[in-house]
Amino acid sequence: MAQVVRLAAVDKTYAVRTRAGRVRRRRREVRAVSDVSFTIESGEMVGYVGPNGAGKSTTIKMITGILTPSAGRIEVLGLTPTVDRRRLTRRIGVVFGQRSQLWWDLPLIDSFELLHHVYRTERARHDANLAAFTERLDLGGFLDVPVRQLSLGQRMRGELTAALLHDPALVVLDEPTIGLDVVSKYAVREFLSETNRERGTTVLLTTHDLDDVEHLCRRMLIIDRGRVLLDGAVDRFKAEHGNDRTLVVDLESAAEPLPLRTGQVLRTDGPRQWIRFDRRRTSAAAVIAEVTAAGAVRDLAIEEPDIEELIRRIYASRTEGSPGDGVGL
Ligand SMILES: Nc1ncnc2c1ncn2[C@@H]1O[C@H](COP(=O)(O)OP(=O)(O)OP(=O)(O)O)[C@@H](O)[C@H]1O
Ligand SMILES: [Mg+2]
Repeated sequence: MAQVVRLAAVDKTYAVRTRAGRVRRRRREVRAVSDVSFTIESGEMVGYVGPNGAGKSTTIKMITGILTPSAGRIEVLGLTPTVDRRRLTRRIGVVFGQRSQLWWDLPLIDSFELLHHVYRTERARHDANLAAFTERLDLGGFLDVPVRQLSLGQRMRGELTAALLHDPALVVLDEPTIGLDVVSKYAVREFLSETNRERGTTVLLTTHDLDDVEHLCRRMLIIDRGRVLLDGAVDRFKAEHGNDRTLVVDLESAAEPLPLRTGQVLRTDGPRQWIRFDRRRTSAAAVIAEVTAAGAVRDLAIEEPDIEELIRRIYASRTEGSPGDGVGL
């Protein structure tokens, strides 16, 4: 299989100027990406996840040629992004959830027509793709509407079409589901997995939403503070880390940590207690029953570990164990 993306020991440092007194400014360096190496093969769909400020967007911008690495090498489809940016543009698709590549004042359809000229796609292929995407993403009702008047979910469907109209071999998406409701998220996910399956498009996406990764990707990379902490199969990651649940109970009054068989009280705050349990060993119903029997309950909620929590745990287990480069699964 061909390598579509290859990063070798990539660093990115930003120079930021901060005020030091009234006139003087100090130059400070922020290391956004540190010694990142990975490869993505043709046809893969990979999730790139991590907390705010981890370095995800910086990595994406280097892969698409918007930013130059401070050190290391990047190759995308055999090209060096910053050097061959124009050639690369015609072979990749890019979606930034927080920024638009569409012409704000033009009807959506006009943006697609302009992109047809930018990418110099064949007319027949452009028309066929546009027809297919219009149907898949249900764009028909708002093709004539100026982009500025579209809802976020409609715009995002437009962005996906814009990124894929020229049949790129690789599509890179930075937070494609940010701010979307469940219906639009589902539409975006379905569309991406179909495109991956039917056209063989390689997909790399960043997200805060672990659900996106679960639904879409077989492999994920976790990045934290600029470094890759883990690169492996999503299923294994979930099996190893994703089974803890936390039951948050509000008792009628403050109490000592409840002595429980089904779970363990992690902390208390007045009448509120956080109880962790493993869903492979016990059901939520059993924990709730035991808690209810042990004390008067006013309210309860179950929390799944979010990605930040999972990353914290990986981080903790990593610093306890032997140091190394990333946790291989
Ligand atoms: N243009 C810039 N100038 C200076 N520092 C920057 C710049 N862009 C990003 N950074 C810093 O680099 C680090 C990584 O930022 P980046 O945007 O890559 O993170 P991210 O993983 O995409 O986060 P988020 O989930 O919030 O989008 C952060 O510390 C950020 O403050
Ligand atoms: Mg970002």
